[in-house]
Amino acid sequence: DGFVCPNTVPYRGRVTCNHREALLRQKGLALWFTGLSGSGKSTIAHAVEDKLYNMGKLTYVFDGDNVRHGLCRDLSFSPEGRAENIRRISEMIKLFLDAGIICLSAFISPLKTDRERARTIIDCGRFFEIYVKCPLEVCEERDVKGLYKLAREGKIKNYTGVSAPYDPPENPDLVLETDKVPVDKCIDIVMEFIQDAMKRI
Ligand code: PPS
Repeated sequence: DGFVCPNTVPYRGRVTCNHREALLRQKGLALWFTGLSGSGKSTIAHAVEDKLYNMGKLTYVFDGDNVRHGLCRDLSFSPEGRAENIRRISEMIKLFLDAGIICLSAFISPLKTDRERARTIIDCGRFFEIYVKCPLEVCEERDVKGLYKLAREGKIKNYTGVSAPYDPPENPDLVLETDKVPVDKCIDIVMEFIQDAMKRI
């Protein structure tokens, strides 16, 4: 933090974020989904992307599993690895926002400090934290990838909810209770939230 690469001067292009947004007829947004593995982050983010695409909006979904196969393939699930994962993805989203794109991110992002840093990096009043809330027991029951079972058996270390912490957001912009509300309804709630946010930014 606070590190600035020496001997570099940022170049300011004549084509700005405003120009790109005008071209795309949209405003960039960062919708930051956070929640336990299996809570429904990816499902909801991708379904919202489908809807926005059908409305002619340019979007991009940043997904934990995908990013960890590429940009963040060198990072572990230690607290330091997770912090760097979130930092890199936040810087990436900042660039995509500058490009005018609606960004949906689906990372567990379990630590409050890391999410706060994401908000600080992305900044610009376009960052919205969406808490995909689901009790651990329900996520574990779903166990879509079979990883909770492995974590319980001690075959995966530092598994969020089992052997690593998850700090629930204290003041999220939106909460989706995926064990209580059907997924289609959660998607509609996010769509309404987006329409509303678009008017305010
Ligand atoms: S983090 O905490 O934000 O850096 O995690 P993220 O990049 O979102 O990656 C989470 C997905 O990686 C799988 N996985 C683990 N999750 C948590 N803890 C450990 N130790 C772990 N090892 C692998 C897991 O399937 C997560 O997938 P999602 O999409 O969240 O279900």
